[in-house]
Amino acid sequence: MTSPQFTPRVFSGIQPSGGLTLGNYLGAIKRFVQMQDEGMETIYCMVDLHAVTVWQNPADLARNTRELAAGFIASGLTPEKSILINQSQVPEHAQLGWVFSCVARMGWMQRMTQFKDKAGKNAQNVSLGLFGYPALMAADILIYHATHVPVGEDQKQHLELTRDIATKFNHDYGVDFFPITEPVIEGAATRVMSLRDGSKKMSKSDPSDASRINMTDDADTIAKKIRKAKTDPDALPSEVEGLADRPEARNLVNIYAALNEQTVEQTLAEVGGQQFGTFKPLLAELAVSRLSPISGEMARLMADPAEIDRILARGAEQAREITAPVLARTYEIMGMVR
Ligand code: AMP
Ligand code: TRP
Repeated sequence: MTSPQFTPRVFSGIQPSGGLTLGNYLGAIKRFVQMQDEGMETIYCMVDLHAVTVWQNPADLARNTRELAAGFIASGLTPEKSILINQSQVPEHAQLGWVFSCVARMGWMQRMTQFKDKAGKNAQNVSLGLFGYPALMAADILIYHATHVPVGEDQKQHLELTRDIATKFNHDYGVDFFPITEPVIEGAATRVMSLRDGSKKMSKSDPSDASRINMTDDADTIAKKIRKAKTDPDALPSEVEGLADRPEARNLVNIYAALNEQTVEQTLAEVGGQQFGTFKPLLAELAVSRLSPISGEMARLMADPAEIDRILARGAEQAREITAPVLARTYEIMGMVR
């Protein structure tokens, strides 16, 4: 349970390590916008310090950070209602990240499946930062005393670790200082799968571009990728249970439901019985109608990068009004002489 003395505050972040995918949009950004529009206090971050846990070409990192900011704004986040920042402009993230590296235990970190997946057989040769990444993520959240974190399914374990870190800090220092954050993993598409393989997550790092829909894909590309998406030969079921052993069919139905602001049940009531030859063009049309206004607006915003930089600079100033006092109090609790 979130402790009652903490006012509701939303934080989330995305890595500027490549283009945005439909998975990012449906699993995360769409929910960011809803929470902003519900009137909650919201802070959204391009986590550039997380991105450099693996090598980033400097020019690409800068471009990807601005493009991600453009994606946020084009999707409906606005600097009037949300604080929009890139992580490296708010130094308290990294400062609290160090403190949390001293709170988190090796055993906790070694259980993180995202690290195991990313490091693979190469675990001796990846950066120390990749291993410590979840401690910085906990700091991103807790430096704001954030109570709610909207993310896709794949971030659940990192949010559990964030709760463990807050609990251990509070316990070790005998305080009730950091909130126990609630993950917000909701909607029909909390885990969008690859279009080529229903057992793999849709990801910007998949070598096959056909496996994902990028937010910047044009209408023809989107339609072509959906047409070629892997499916099975059967018609769509009318009940959710009928999707149980059909990961590819389930994925396309989930995407349709999320794009159409429906539950999966509602979608199946509409499209149950259809063959993929009928359903795929409907899905493509829906995807294009939702995504093309966003990609058009992204392109427009990217034509004026100086304006994006001004938004991020202003966001950093607003953010530091929150983060500086939280860091100062953390240090004081720990006995650091101020
Ligand atoms: P990342 O691109 O790894 O920085 O992820 C940014 C956000 O998008 C996180 O909240 C992820 O959980 C979410 N996300 C990334 N890929 C997917 C996916 N395939 N399905 C649902 N959510 C996703
Ligand atoms: N780890 C997240 C991802 O890979 C990105 C992230 C960093 C994040 N800090 C965060 C998400 C804080 C939510 C809150 O997708």
